[in-house]
Amino acid sequence: MENIYSIISNLPFPDEITKFWKKHSLCIQKQKFPKQNIITRDWISTNSLIPYLEIDLRLPINKIRTEILNVLDFYENSSTHRGEEMHNGWWSLCLHGLSTNKTRSPRHYGYKSDSETPYKWTELSDLCPITTNAIKNSFKVEFFHRIRLMVLEPGGYILPHTDTQKSFLPKSVNIAITNPKGAYFLLKDKGIIPFEEGKAFKFDISIEHSVINISEERRVHLMVHYDNPKPEWDSFIVNSYKKNMK
Ligand SMILES: [Fe+2]
Repeated sequence: MENIYSIISNLPFPDEITKFWKKHSLCIQKQKFPKQNIITRDWISTNSLIPYLEIDLRLPINKIRTEILNVLDFYENSSTHRGEEMHNGWWSLCLHGLSTNKTRSPRHYGYKSDSETPYKWTELSDLCPITTNAIKNSFKVEFFHRIRLMVLEPGGYILPHTDTQKSFLPKSVNIAITNPKGAYFLLKDKGIIPFEEGKAFKFDISIEHSVINISEERRVHLMVHYDNPKPEWDSFIVNSYKKNMK
């Protein structure tokens, strides 16, 4: 892995980004997968304390990428994500949510929790039937919460932040629809998540993280939040963990 800090130190990023990447991008570690007699999805999520887990989703990524990249041009930067937090070039759209452009958490729109929010498939999902069907077919879960396209423009960055306090792997998956060379996702003290186009990861969002895109292309990821996984999904997560242990 190249020394990313030496590349970004010459680019016009804010100090917060350069300091974080200087301190943490050099400590890339090989991930350890603890052994356990009986491995369950709950144990993986709450007790294994792994920072991230690649899961074995097999989506028709070429068709999905073509469909999504075509549709993004209609929406061009329409929903800046967390605009008040000074990230740069980060915007998103909901395939499933309150509406295509209501991309924030439920509390932002006056709802107390995901379970009481009237989520639905949005207008955007009608324009993305291949992606929508692929998600419906591969996630064996009872409920979807927000499902969002997360776009990071060339030169964009997401400042270091945490999303929860408790350490666990939440009921969400981040799928790289595109991951151009020069797009990096860094977890504090854990290193860079080895995203490539089509790869899907769950990760611990209590660990400080930051994303940069120093490529010339958009980085587009899909974030799927869900609840009430079915036994099939539990087995799928366990099998993904076991595959990583090998
Ligand atoms: Fe985050």
